[in-house]
Amino acid sequence: MVNLTIDGKKISVKEGTTILDASAANGICIPTLCFQKGLNEIGACRLCCVEVKGTERLVPACNNYVQEGMEIFTNSPKARIARRTNVQLILSQHDCRCAVCTRSGNCTLQKIANDLGLSGTSFPADIPKNEWTPDFPLVRDNSKCVKCMRCVQVCDKIQGLHIWDVANTGSHTRVDVSGNIRIEQSDCSLCGQCITHCPVNALHERDDTAKVFKALSDPDKITVVQVAPSVRAAWGEALGLRPEFASVKRLVAALRRMGFSYIFDTDFSADLTIMEEASEFLQKLKNRDHEKFPMFTSCCPAWVRFLKSQYPDMVCQLSTAKSPQAMFGAVAKSYYADLLGVDPRRIFSVSVMPCVAKKHECDIPNINGAGAGKDVDAVLTTREIDRMIRAEDIIAEALPEEEFDKPLGVGSGAGVIFGATGGVMEAALRTAYYLATGTNPDPDTFHDVRGTEGWKEETYEIAGIPLHVAVVSGLGNTRKMMEALRAGEVHYDFVEVMACPGRP
Ligand code: SF4
Ligand code: SF4
Ligand code: SF4
Ligand code: FES
Repeated sequence: MVNLTIDGKKISVKEGTTILDASAANGICIPTLCFQKGLNEIGACRLCCVEVKGTERLVPACNNYVQEGMEIFTNSPKARIARRTNVQLILSQHDCRCAVCTRSGNCTLQKIANDLGLSGTSFPADIPKNEWTPDFPLVRDNSKCVKCMRCVQVCDKIQGLHIWDVANTGSHTRVDVSGNIRIEQSDCSLCGQCITHCPVNALHERDDTAKVFKALSDPDKITVVQVAPSVRAAWGEALGLRPEFASVKRLVAALRRMGFSYIFDTDFSADLTIMEEASEFLQKLKNRDHEKFPMFTSCCPAWVRFLKSQYPDMVCQLSTAKSPQAMFGAVAKSYYADLLGVDPRRIFSVSVMPCVAKKHECDIPNINGAGAGKDVDAVLTTREIDRMIRAEDIIAEALPEEEFDKPLGVGSGAGVIFGATGGVMEAALRTAYYLATGTNPDPDTFHDVRGTEGWKEETYEIAGIPLHVAVVSGLGNTRKMMEALRAGEVHYDFVEVMACPGRP
């Protein structure tokens, strides 16, 4: 243990603890902007600087460790002035129009500036210009970038794609697409991890809410919306709902108040995807000597994009099943239009999805199969649907719970677990077992494939056939697995890949 004093309080913490963690463990909250534990510990923003007795320069708390006898002042006049100056310098290069910024209320810079009581900056404004490819599903706004480098680190270290890099030096430093190319020329998988890690609004999804509002107000349009499995777990967060109120049935009620004609569940088409994938897998096993293994799942469009750009020779090993989103879109504009007895071109099909890769997927021309324009007309992320709920003045907490519409609003447990890492594999194996043997397996037979490890493998037997399967999450882990496959170090029959790092 190390003994030290923070803000006059004597404490003991384990050796190897950062000043930041030691303070937090003792109820002292030091503001951070660039820091992300284990990912970005480069000390770029200097907002966490503290004064250490006997040391002239201020010390970043996020990447400096406690030492025996240290006397730390987290909010001394010197530390406070430096923090305020650093935030003002950042604000001088930042387009501070919070009133028209979609991250307002969920922005680290805004919170820090507010907490410090800053009313402006005394430094001359020098706001970088922003140029970006219109309509690309991921949007970068340099006028909001605080140069924290989190996007660079997550894309490099977790996703292994190195899309972002630092250009220029000094106060003109900026983060941009590496290799001096445009984003659409890069190998960005559109996994969205850099958006998730950005503390401000410098990275965000393309806003498609206006398109959906327009369709909702068009009396000729029949608006059909599908809700992805993972959205039901996340939608309440940005609205400040307590978990017990943030049920999927309350989301259904909110969508109905917004005016959607029919509200359906992507679980329905996740079940279709699973039936297709499981059947295809069994078919391949019957023809084992002439087929290439492993077969890869195809439901994550960020993974499919990654495969196409990084391992194009292995694209033929993808399952031919469309993703649940794409299957739903095709069903909505074919089977369901027939059921309603309407021209499928009157249907405006919306999906609420967890990531920007889904926005890209619905724009791929050959994904459309129903022959009535795009199978999915607009994709909204969880953040966008939350904004729409707020814009409609809907108090979600006050709504009663309501059911999905029928018949595309029903799904099995297999569809629900698509939202969790290993869930697609578990659902596919359960279905393959049923199709091969005519009986359902015990509920937990394939449960071990679940879990948030980056790369896990299991061995099973279905109808006497031994199977070696793997589940990989995060594109950095995926690359390791693909290289091991190429090198012949591992052999699998079936592999699930999700671009997001593990989801419980
Ligand atoms: S990114 Fe944050 S500080 Fe900047 S305009 Fe948006 S809400 Fe305000
Ligand atoms: S979306 Fe994913 S692949 Fe693309 S730049 Fe961001 S982290 Fe990298
Ligand atoms: S885009 Fe966001 S995450 Fe990347 S450096 Fe700028 S502020 Fe940080
Ligand atoms: S949070 Fe410590 S330097 Fe940025």
